[in-house]
Amino acid sequence: MAEAQAPQRGGNAEDVSAERLAEIGLRHEVDGEIATITLDRPEKRNAQTFATWSALARIGESLPEQVRVVVVKGEGPSFSAGIDLRMFTPEGVPGQGSFSSAAATDGEAFEQRIRQAQDGFLWLRRPEIVSIAAVQGHAIGAGFQLALACDLRIVADDITFCMKEPALGLVPDLTGTKPLVELVGLAKAIDICLTARNVYAEEAMRIGLAEQVVAGGDLDKTVQNKIAELLSTNRDAAAATKRLLQGARARTLEEQSAAEGREQAKRIKALFGPR
Ligand code: ACO
Repeated sequence: MAEAQAPQRGGNAEDVSAERLAEIGLRHEVDGEIATITLDRPEKRNAQTFATWSALARIGESLPEQVRVVVVKGEGPSFSAGIDLRMFTPEGVPGQGSFSSAAATDGEAFEQRIRQAQDGFLWLRRPEIVSIAAVQGHAIGAGFQLALACDLRIVADDITFCMKEPALGLVPDLTGTKPLVELVGLAKAIDICLTARNVYAEEAMRIGLAEQVVAGGDLDKTVQNKIAELLSTNRDAAAATKRLLQGARARTLEEQSAAEGREQAKRIKALFGPR
């Protein structure tokens, strides 16, 4: 995956007050080195809106420095049913407009709005954190893309991934196309997106969309075990290694070897240099 170009930390934590998040249908809890973001509108299958995405971006901006692992999960039977379908109606989502109202604005303004929405997804690739999507039930459209925005996907055996956008006349635009191609290859990504077909757990595991498939009841425990494994390594070495891995595809072997040397020299200085 290309190196992350995500907005940096340092935002205003007040923007992500629990009350405001609850209105949007999100929860955000930080416990030491672990942050958990929960899509919390189960009665609407955790459908997402522009407010969801800007809140996600603000959570990323205000993430405390000590956080090393971010878990993204969904309350209820489904991880997320994707974009709130009210966007397709003339009335739209109260306070957030509709696709019809967006179509009436100039293209550039809407493109800008999409870029802002993408900020909610991009920060999950930062080198200094590892993000884990804990997925059960449906992860459709924006839900699938949110799972793709995370570094790892641990899934329940009842999952359905579906890139529904092309069936609705849209393209996947929430940063999901690049990780999808990188994970499954171009041919399989074309197959999945241009048919908008369902991908179930067995296939997700086989083609690299999931790191682990477990029984639904074991999802939380499996995620906790993975977090413990991730936290067992050195924080700075983990961030440097993620930077290396993220940049590997775009570099030649020679460039990558040089990058390894640079990172290692920094590690050795930090570990053994004069204090
Ligand atoms: N937007 C708004 N409301 C939704 C959405 C959505 N994307 N998905 C489900 N809901 C609502 C339903 O309208 C229903 O509300 P109601 O109880 O007031 O009638 C409630 O959530 C439960 O939905 P069900 O369909 O009854 O739940 P079920 O578990 O049987 O099915 C499923 C879940 C398969 C996810 C189904 O709801 C569905 O297909 N949703 C639409 C998926 C979709 O097309 N998303 C857009 C993808 S494209 C993109 O994200 C850019």
